[in-house]
Amino acid sequence: MAVHILDALSREGFEEILAVHDRESGLRAFLALHDTSAGPAFGGIRRFSYASEKSALLDCLRLALSMSHKCALAGVRGGGGKVVILDRPDLDLERAYRHLGARVERMGGRFYTGPDVGTGEEELGWVTATTRYATRTDDLGPGDLAEATCMGTFAGVSAGLRSLYGEEDWAQRTIVVQGLGKAGRGMARLFAERGARVLAADLEADRVQRAVDDLGVERLEPGSEYEVEADVFCPCAMGGVLHDLTIQRLGAKIVAGAANNVLAKARHGDRLHERGILYVPDFVINAGALIRGATFHLDGTPASNEEILGRVGEVAREILCRALEEDAPPARVAVDEAERRLALRRGTASTDEPTRPVTTS
Ligand code: NAI
Repeated sequence: MAVHILDALSREGFEEILAVHDRESGLRAFLALHDTSAGPAFGGIRRFSYASEKSALLDCLRLALSMSHKCALAGVRGGGGKVVILDRPDLDLERAYRHLGARVERMGGRFYTGPDVGTGEEELGWVTATTRYATRTDDLGPGDLAEATCMGTFAGVSAGLRSLYGEEDWAQRTIVVQGLGKAGRGMARLFAERGARVLAADLEADRVQRAVDDLGVERLEPGSEYEVEADVFCPCAMGGVLHDLTIQRLGAKIVAGAANNVLAKARHGDRLHERGILYVPDFVINAGALIRGATFHLDGTPASNEEILGRVGEVAREILCRALEEDAPPARVAVDEAERRLALRRGTASTDEPTRPVTTS
């Protein structure tokens, strides 16, 4: 496996990576800490059948870095971390998650973990049995994280509409939602409640049927959602869905959704910009769960829906405003701003450069 771990860490300023193996459960996992200069690292546990150890490691690093960007832009006093478990059929899940929890506990609060793809309520129950530094899903935890995600994402969609049209005018909007899981269903509900026309696709037909029945959304065949002429394409399923082929087919004027890492490559943010499609970066607007979890762990009180709407909306508006001023792809503006904030936190920012606050009121 030709991965030069130390090179990879130093290139992006990572602090640490642990390779975790447990003989009893068969657990094989990576745990990456990207940045703890402003506070503990936050990041969920992803469990996935990776094709190789290399792809698992790279995913872990990419996700931890993206969490640092998310923290910096959301004003969270912490940085990015991540765990990825290399899933396989003979893994003893309960033991594996308990082992991971114990490992996180030994880090003494440098890293807080929580849900992600492959890690839901049951798995978190095993993790929280062995560590205090993980999100509880019962009454002793921070509350509904998916709802928090939807609040922030909604603020991001609003910012996109205002940037393009000067107003939201929900009743006149057509919105396509991809994925009707925890985040997508919540988004579809928020749009439908405001009178928007909502079309949605999911690989699981019963989820779509439920949304048709309860929320009045219109059904789309999975794969057909890209072409729909819409104001907003709201991706709430998997990452990497926007690439050369799908961007070419995209009929929406704005892309804004909850899904993590929706661009297959960074250059696809440029491609959207060239096509005149406004992309509101995912890591700017899907930070609601992070904000709620971090405020709970650091301050003892989870952020309310209103606080999340306000915080995410403000930063989204600022990023879009700057992108418009500079005629630059919003994803580039957001990454630059996140990196600038990280450098300030680490005390490595150039003093020659004037600092520009991201929030202007
Ligand atoms: P989920 O697992 O509850 O729902 C995902 C849904 O997408 C499922 O219904 C699945 O059938 C559907 N789906 C998968 N591939 C699809 C495709 N190609 N076309 C149409 N539908 C497809 O997941 P959740 O929690 O709703 O998360 C969705 C996205 O939002 C993920 O990328 C996640 O990383 C991101 N996210 C979620 C947060 C949360 O609080 N739930 C927080 C931040 C990001």
